[in-house]
Amino acid sequence: MKILVTGGTGYIGSHTVLSLQEAGHDVVVVDNLANSSEESLRRVAELSGKTAAFHQVDLLDEQALDGVFREHAIDAVIHFAGLKAVGESVKEPLKYYYNNIVGTLNLIRVMDGHNVRRIVFSSSATVYGEHNPIPYVEKMEIGANNPYGRTKEQIEDILSDLGSADDRWHIALLRYFNPVGAHPSGRIGEDPQGIPNNLVPFIAQVAVGRREKLMVFGGDYDTPDGTCLRDYIHVTDLADGHVAALNHVADKAGVFRWNLGSGTGSSVLEVLHSFEKAVGRELPYEITGRRAGDLPAFWADASAALADLGWSTTKTLDEMCQDHWRWQKNNPNGYTA
Ligand code: NAD
Ligand code: UFG
Repeated sequence: MKILVTGGTGYIGSHTVLSLQEAGHDVVVVDNLANSSEESLRRVAELSGKTAAFHQVDLLDEQALDGVFREHAIDAVIHFAGLKAVGESVKEPLKYYYNNIVGTLNLIRVMDGHNVRRIVFSSSATVYGEHNPIPYVEKMEIGANNPYGRTKEQIEDILSDLGSADDRWHIALLRYFNPVGAHPSGRIGEDPQGIPNNLVPFIAQVAVGRREKLMVFGGDYDTPDGTCLRDYIHVTDLADGHVAALNHVADKAGVFRWNLGSGTGSSVLEVLHSFEKAVGRELPYEITGRRAGDLPAFWADASAALADLGWSTTKTLDEMCQDHWRWQKNNPNGYTA
């Protein structure tokens, strides 16, 4: 199939482009490069031996997007493009609602106009909010507690309404848990701009000497070692989950929701110690106050993706850290030479 990947130069997008090419699909990428670099796609081409067509297009520019659909006979879309920093979304909610929601509305309107009605959407575990028991199951009521999360929830609602109104749509809503790691080649990986918000990229920058020490946000939670538990998932497992979801919706209409996670939680200190093993030395850290909005623990019930898609995670936390470290060590400044 010919797959349009929005946000395909980004972290998860670039790994998914590679998985799609390895599975035999042709890939077209649109990205405005707001949080990524075209270098990722050059490296994906090096790994797969195939070149994805790239269009530097903003989803807010409906006409330019329409041009991409006129140029390519797209069969399905995997939609990653969006802004994703929770803290920034609290400070600049309009920027997030406008970019993520209007961008998605433009995309699905253009898709509809071109009779392309298969879409796999990047949602997030953050839609489960703070009131659900763990593990999270797809049928739970959702309710995000920050503007970023609410953009995901609202896009899920928009796509669900569309699927209910028009049975020609094939829609997969994928709720990711905590993606980390990098392709085992060390050629592509996560390249955050500025100070990383997320745990593993921050640890990686401490290990490579770009940051002094890790601040562990809270050591007094009601968890085995007092630090928060999260469900970390290797980005290549996540990318393969997209190919599995795409295969499912290729011939099945309707709206499907799947958690993509491992089904287990690891603590902040477990992640740090696993990363230390990969690096081969201890890394400096300090336990500080809790970060506002953090939940003590959450992980996925990942049984629906296994039952419906035959997909489950394959990589351990140690492998995630080894691969993340290989990428960071070989590319201390990310894609910037
Ligand atoms: P990323 O920032 O690396 O990738 C997103 C890409 O979208 C970037 O390349 C950016 O330039 C592009 N983009 C943003 N707005 C755009 C627009 N208006 N038009 C065109 N391109 C645009 O992020 P990622 O970690 O690869 O995340 C991909 C998707 O997965 C996002 O939707 C994110 O919200 C979601 N997600 C990420 C995580 C995570 O922890 N990384 C967790 C859950 C869900
Ligand atoms: N943490 C630290 N120090 C840091 C960064 C993080 O101790 O410098 C801790 C956090 O307090 C949390 C854990 O490490 O306990 C994981 O934090 P991340 O920021 O890496 O991930 P979150 O679980 O907070 O959130 C991420 C994304 C969300 C997404 C969620 C589930 O940022 O957008 O995973 O997919 F919704």
